[in-house]
Amino acid sequence: MCHPSPTSGPTDQEPAIDLQLHAATWLVQPHGLDVVEAMVAALDDGADTLAIASRWRSELADPQLASTALTAAVARRRARARWPEAERMLFTRHGLEQASDPTVASWRARRLAATDGDGSVEVWDVTAGLGADAIAVARAGAEVVAVEHDPARAILLEHNLRVAEVTASVVVDDALEVRVPPGARVHADPARRPDGDRTHHLDDHQPPVSRIVQRFAARSGLAITLAPGVDRDDPALGGEMEVEYLQRGEQLLEATVWDDPLRAPGALASATLLPNGEHRVRTGAAGELAVGPPGDHLVEVVPAAVRARLHDELGEEFGGWRLARHRALLSVDGRPPESPWYRSRPILAVLPAKPAPIRRWLADRDAPPIEIVLHGITGDPTRWWREIGRPPRGPQGWRVELIRRDDDAVALVTDAGGPPTGELDADDEPGR
Ligand SMILES: C[S@@+](CC[C@H](N)C(=O)[O-])C[C@H]1O[C@@H](n2cnc3c(N)ncnc32)[C@H](O)[C@@H]1O
Repeated sequence: MCHPSPTSGPTDQEPAIDLQLHAATWLVQPHGLDVVEAMVAALDDGADTLAIASRWRSELADPQLASTALTAAVARRRARARWPEAERMLFTRHGLEQASDPTVASWRARRLAATDGDGSVEVWDVTAGLGADAIAVARAGAEVVAVEHDPARAILLEHNLRVAEVTASVVVDDALEVRVPPGARVHADPARRPDGDRTHHLDDHQPPVSRIVQRFAARSGLAITLAPGVDRDDPALGGEMEVEYLQRGEQLLEATVWDDPLRAPGALASATLLPNGEHRVRTGAAGELAVGPPGDHLVEVVPAAVRARLHDELGEEFGGWRLARHRALLSVDGRPPESPWYRSRPILAVLPAKPAPIRRWLADRDAPPIEIVLHGITGDPTRWWREIGRPPRGPQGWRVELIRRDDDAVALVTDAGGPPTGELDADDEPGR
């Protein structure tokens, strides 16, 4: 591991340091690893965390070591479902929460490590954390330098790179100070939790996004990992960049901002669906679809495509229209072709958005379980359940979809049939 200046380290705005240097040094030694393993086994056997903590506090002279090992044990069990190597990796609670999803990291790594077939590229992961992205990029074939300014976290980072059996060097330094050689690509995943809270302001990230852009844009390739709420027109991003919105299953997880030459030619935004790797790029501003009344089907475009503002283009392909000017909720006559980019549901009824007519309509029918979904309508869905006289139910059967349109609201009864279709109000248009 390479340490430059003794001044580099977490700033005052960083989250409370969740790992002491001496504890990190001990944790990666055989004794520390054995203690974490014993704690994981005890937790697997159903032991209580308080009992484990008190046993190890008396066994280890330093209570800090016991609590660091217990945090690592709890985090390791949490990481199991997502990380193949979790059983040997070391995490802190914040470090695990901040780590990229491994499926997303390996998708992103393919573009970061791509070559024209001539040797490998060098990628500097300048905010490497506990190493999810660095591991993925090294596995994709790049030579990786992992930079982390917190020296204690860098010790766990080095351990995780070792257990993942990838070759990458670790440098303890500040992302904005470290000297990245010309020709190397840069990946930054700035911390989003100053003071323990998630932040959506790009310049409240650590390091601030506009500083990352100033330092590394217009060089050999820059990728920045951000929360999926980011708008591609955010001034912190500077000039022309591609913002890729990434969704795994029904969940919108992350965004990656790509600067030339890693940006796809002419791309303004793109959307990716994982794990199957469906990918769509938007290169221009599509004309906005006309607004019309509900047709035969309600079509809900998946959140990653809505964030990338691909919904008008998709609707145009199947002859659809919008149900409201500021809403990415579409409709069409007939049934749209099957597509991973949207879910369509037959519309069974169009009713006023009031409890009494909905209640009457349902009373006349042998209705299956009802789910209530609010699109742009504020309020408590349980109040609607109470007022239409139906118990709350999960997402099968029929849905009552309450939709705020431009000048009024409408209730559609749709046949949900299949699996849930994502987050409430995923059709809220970005940047409106
Ligand atoms: C969101 S985490 C990175 C997570 C990582 N991509 C992963 O998947 O495990 C951000 C990391 O950047 C580090 N960091 C924050 N400011 C930094 C700076 N100025 N220089 C280098 N590292 C920094 C934090 O300590 C934290 O570990």
